[in-house]
Amino acid sequence: MMRAKIVSTGSYLPEKTLTNRDLEQMVDTSDEWITQRTGIKVRHIASDGEATSDLAYKAALDALNNANVDSMDIDAIIVATVTPDKPLPATALFVQEKLGAKNAFGFDINAACSGFMYALSVADGYVRSNLAEKVLVIGAETLSRITDYKDRSTCVIFADGAACVLLEKTDEENKGILGIKLHSDGGYTDLMQVPAMGSLNPCTKQAIDNRDIYIKMKGNETFKMSIRSIMDVSREVLSDLDMDFEDVDLMIPHQANKRIIEGVAKRAKLPDEKVVITIDKHANTSAASIPLALDWANKNGKIKQGDTILLNSFGASLTWSAAVIRW
Ligand code: UT7
Repeated sequence: MMRAKIVSTGSYLPEKTLTNRDLEQMVDTSDEWITQRTGIKVRHIASDGEATSDLAYKAALDALNNANVDSMDIDAIIVATVTPDKPLPATALFVQEKLGAKNAFGFDINAACSGFMYALSVADGYVRSNLAEKVLVIGAETLSRITDYKDRSTCVIFADGAACVLLEKTDEENKGILGIKLHSDGGYTDLMQVPAMGSLNPCTKQAIDNRDIYIKMKGNETFKMSIRSIMDVSREVLSDLDMDFEDVDLMIPHQANKRIIEGVAKRAKLPDEKVVITIDKHANTSAASIPLALDWANKNGKIKQGDTILLNSFGASLTWSAAVIRW
């Protein structure tokens, strides 16, 4: 059976960093609180003038170089992001131009922290249906641009970064993306949002004064729904494949909070060595978080040929998803 397979990964993190100690100087917080409640130690932050497409381009270049593939051979570029360079055009087009990927078509997807998974599902469909043979699937964010550094409940969590996978067709038996499940629920859009900057509430002076141009999050309410949703969708994708958590060699979850990841791992009975946690060094990079963790695991020898990998996500507001990949 023809499937889509991840043939390489790439990533880019901005040079500038923001530590918990730095944040102690900015808001009423502490390294101890942030570490205990989130697991985060440091975040990468884009410099002035460094756009989401710059991060995405460097991550894509890394993935292309690692696979020894020319950008002219790419058929499609999908960028998952909630922080596009501009409302128009799509960030993917800036990435296309920077890469010189003249033969590709490109567009963006917004599904918040599940964005990479949604993009992966679209790319998987393109490859399976012969619409594209080689697809760059990128998760890229400059969340620092929409983070309120006066709001301690959000500014300690979010960060910037980008990562990319190169997807190609494979006829290898039982390799590649085996299954994906996606969910959303529009009944909870108030749990996490940027109130202004869109058609409903454009960027006015009042919106800026109210700080409505930044992410507002009901963190604790979001947290309470996360573990069960991730467990449910993970069970769903696994059972469709006649699998269980016992068949999983590695879980690579969205990195929103170390306590969420540990809660899922405990319920799934997955030992520490089967769970990838990068939140300490990457923080929450929304759509970039899963591919960043995947790239980290790949480059650090955590993934073996033939491994069954479970990816799962939960994010605003609300989206959740899971995928099973055979490496
Ligand atoms: O990316 C996908 C979508 N997002 C998520 O999945 C995020 C899920 N939520 C979370 O990760 C957690 O809810 C947070 C890390 C955001 C917050 O942790 P929490 O344990 O849920 O804290 P809380 O909001 O219930 O607040 C507990 C206390 C409050 O103080 P009082 O009212 O008990 O005196 C907060 O004001 O902690 C306080 N607090 C802080 N204290 C020090 C909130 N943020 C901070 C902070 N430093 N940065």
